Amino acid sequence: MKIAILKERRDGETRVAATPGTVKKLVDAGHEIRVEKDAGADASLPDAAYAEAGAQMGTLAATLKGVDAVFAVRTPDDETLAKLPRDCLLVGLLEPHGNKDRAQLFANAGINALAMEFTPRITRAQAMDALSSQSNLAGYRAVIEASQLYRRAFPMMMTAAGTVAAAKVFVMGAGVAGLQAIATARRLGAVVSATDVRPAAKEQVGSLGAKFIAVEDEEFKAAETAGGYAKEMSKEYQAKQAELVANHIAKQDVVVTTALIPGRPAPRLITKAMVESMKPGAVIVDIAAAMGGNCELTEADKVVEHNGVSIAGYTNLPGRLAADASSLYGRNLVNLAPLLAGEDGALAPHWDDEIITGMTLTRDGKVVHQTLK
Ligand code: NAI
Repeated sequence: MKIAILKERRDGETRVAATPGTVKKLVDAGHEIRVEKDAGADASLPDAAYAEAGAQMGTLAATLKGVDAVFAVRTPDDETLAKLPRDCLLVGLLEPHGNKDRAQLFANAGINALAMEFTPRITRAQAMDALSSQSNLAGYRAVIEASQLYRRAFPMMMTAAGTVAAAKVFVMGAGVAGLQAIATARRLGAVVSATDVRPAAKEQVGSLGAKFIAVEDEEFKAAETAGGYAKEMSKEYQAKQAELVANHIAKQDVVVTTALIPGRPAPRLITKAMVESMKPGAVIVDIAAAMGGNCELTEADKVVEHNGVSIAGYTNLPGRLAADASSLYGRNLVNLAPLLAGEDGALAPHWDDEIITGMTLTRDGKVVHQTLK
């Protein structure tokens, strides 16, 4: 396959879909890799390193000429999309949920689009799962951001001058990001608690040394879908959850929220009144900011202060670790590549493989994904 790696053009996107390390793996597998000049600049990955790994460096036009596939982090802008050859494969985090118009745009342009968000949650696809690789880094980074905004220390310290108390950290949503947030906060010495609506999370939270707090009723016992994701909870459950959380949150120093429902706005877990119950100096980092936020006061890509409580709404936390995020994302794509090519390495997507079927939005000029038709 001739694969193009473009410079990401979305505002604030620092990641890139390949690193010199992943380029080498793709070249070793027999593919021809073209990388647009400066593609890795924001992830501290210089052009010379890509060239050394075997990539052909060039302008946007040269990079796209006659390519079989474009590996991207985000959907390229309209101007770039118009330059993709017909029948080209586009693989990326294409924000597919409910995005029928964009899928139609891909179909009209003759682009066969594969959304990394739709990677099925089966064991065989784990190494290709970009939501997991990026969420893991987001969970880590959220705690690091919180520690910067918090004007106190995380660990308990006993000094000659007196004792510094350990920070109390509460993690809402104990999926991939939440579990990494728990582990990171624990490593920094905080006293950690966490909540989730999926029963499977209870044991995982406990095994990381955090206290599990949740409304464990009948609905909770059935909250996990076959795909491993959470369902949207009923109004009654949300009310019980809010009451439990309200009492707990008032005593916390740091809250990291990660709760998401695929394709839906993020559930509102922290109201303005709950923020007002927190101590001045407390910090909320809302990982769900890109989906509207778990906190009522979250503003995308801003740190707002309300009654002395800081609320950070970074929408691209993995982008704040651009080198590692690019490296893991690039490896997700390297692991996917064998399903896009035949044994001779030429473009031949395995359309009938359940992983590819699950990810395919458009094919041969038509929108084919069942959720978008
Ligand atoms: P996610 O990013 O969609 O959601 C984050 C977390 O928020 C989830 O744990 C969810 O249960 C929770 N949540 C949703 N609504 C909530 C509410 N009202 N209150 C509190 N929490 C709420 O989920 P993520 O992190 O992508 O994955 C969830 C699970 O999927 C993982 O823990 C893992 O077990 C499984 N998984 C399986 C994979 C595989 O088998 N290939 C790969 C990755 C994850």
